[in-house]
Amino acid sequence: MKHKIVVTGGLGFIGSHVVVELQNEGFEVVIIDDLSNSSEAVLKGITAITGIQPVFEKLDLRDKNLVIDFFKRHHDVMGVIHFAASKAVGESVNLPLLYYENNLNTLIYILQELHKKEAAHLIFSSSCTVYGQADVLPITESAPIKAAESPYGNTKQIGEEIISDTCKVSDNLKAIALRYFNPIGAHESAKIGELPIGTPQNLVPFITQTGKGLRAELSVFGNDYPTEDGTCVRDYIHVVDLAKAHVAALKRLIGGANADNYEVFNIGTGKGSSVLEVITAFEEVSNQKLNYKLVDRRAGDVVAAYADTTKANNVLGWKAKLNLKDALASAWKWEQSLK
Ligand code: WQD
Repeated sequence: MKHKIVVTGGLGFIGSHVVVELQNEGFEVVIIDDLSNSSEAVLKGITAITGIQPVFEKLDLRDKNLVIDFFKRHHDVMGVIHFAASKAVGESVNLPLLYYENNLNTLIYILQELHKKEAAHLIFSSSCTVYGQADVLPITESAPIKAAESPYGNTKQIGEEIISDTCKVSDNLKAIALRYFNPIGAHESAKIGELPIGTPQNLVPFITQTGKGLRAELSVFGNDYPTEDGTCVRDYIHVVDLAKAHVAALKRLIGGANADNYEVFNIGTGKGSSVLEVITAFEEVSNQKLNYKLVDRRAGDVVAAYADTTKANNVLGWKAKLNLKDALASAWKWEQSLK
C-alpha cells in the first residue's frame, strides 16, 4: 500500500521537484496549489518525467473550511510537505499582512488537521533567512536566530516556533524543518524548472534570462563587501539535491528514526560561491560571455551565508551530490527549453 503524501505548493519550483522524487520513491502524491505563483502546466511536466499524474486540487489554504474538507476527503493522508507560502522578501516588506495571513494561517489550519490524526508527519519548508547575517560561518543549526529583516523571514521563524510548540504537546505529530540555502537549477529533463513571474528577483534566473537575451544585462548588487572579490557569497544548492533531502526527511519520520518530535536541518552544499564566481561558472557552462554591470548594494542582503552540512550528512543521511556548474548547466538547459 502506497503512503499518501500531500504536497502544498506542489506546482511551484521546489515543490514540483519534490513531487517527482516522491513519485520516484513510490509515494502516492496529492498536490494542493492555489496557482497564485505557479501554473497547471507544471503538472504535465511532472507526469512527463515520472509517467504518473499526481492528483491536483486547486485550493486556497487561507480558507479554513476548505482545509477541513480536504483532510476529511483525504483521511488516509499520512504526511504533508508544506511549501505553499508567499516568498518574495521585498514584497513582504510592503504587504506584511498578506504574508502573515498566507504563510501562517495556512500552516495553522494544516497543523490543526494533522493534530486530529493518529499519526502524522510534517516537513516544513524553512530558510537560511532565519539566521540573518550569521556571526560564524559555515552556519550550523545551533546558530542563533536573528531578528528577521523582513516579514517573509519572520513568517519562517514564527512558522518553525508554531510547529515546535505543537509537536511538544502532540505525541502523534512529528515534524522536520528544512532550512534551505539558495535553491537553483532544474530537473535534467528540462521538463520542470524555475518559472519566475515578471522580472526575476533571484540571481540565477536573472542570469539565464540575460544569457538568453531576454534581459540586457545583469546588475551585480555591490562589489564592496568584505569578501574575496567584494561580492556576496551564498550556498547554491541544486534543486534536485534539495528535493531528495525532503524524501530523506520524510522517510526518517515514517521510519521513526527521528530523535525528537521536531528537528531542524540545514540543507546546502556546504560551499560558498560569490556572485562573480557564479557568473564565471555560468559563462563556462553556457560557453558565452555574460553582460553585467556592478551597481550599488541591494538593501537587506547579508554578506555571506553557507551551510555547515554535518548534521544533514551524518544524522539525516543526506548529502548534496551536484555542484554549482551542474546546477547552472541544468538552469541554462531549462531556460533554453522555454518558449
Ligand atoms: C543572491 C545573491 C544578491 C539578483 C533569497 C531569499 C531566500 C531564498 C532565496 C526563499 C545576492 C545577488 C541577485 C540580481 C545580484 N528565498 N543578486 N543581482 O537574496 O540570497 O535569497 O532567495 O526562501 O529566503 O532571501 O538570493 O538570488 O536574490 O541573491 O547581484 O539581479 O545575488 O545581491 O548577493 P538571496 P538571490
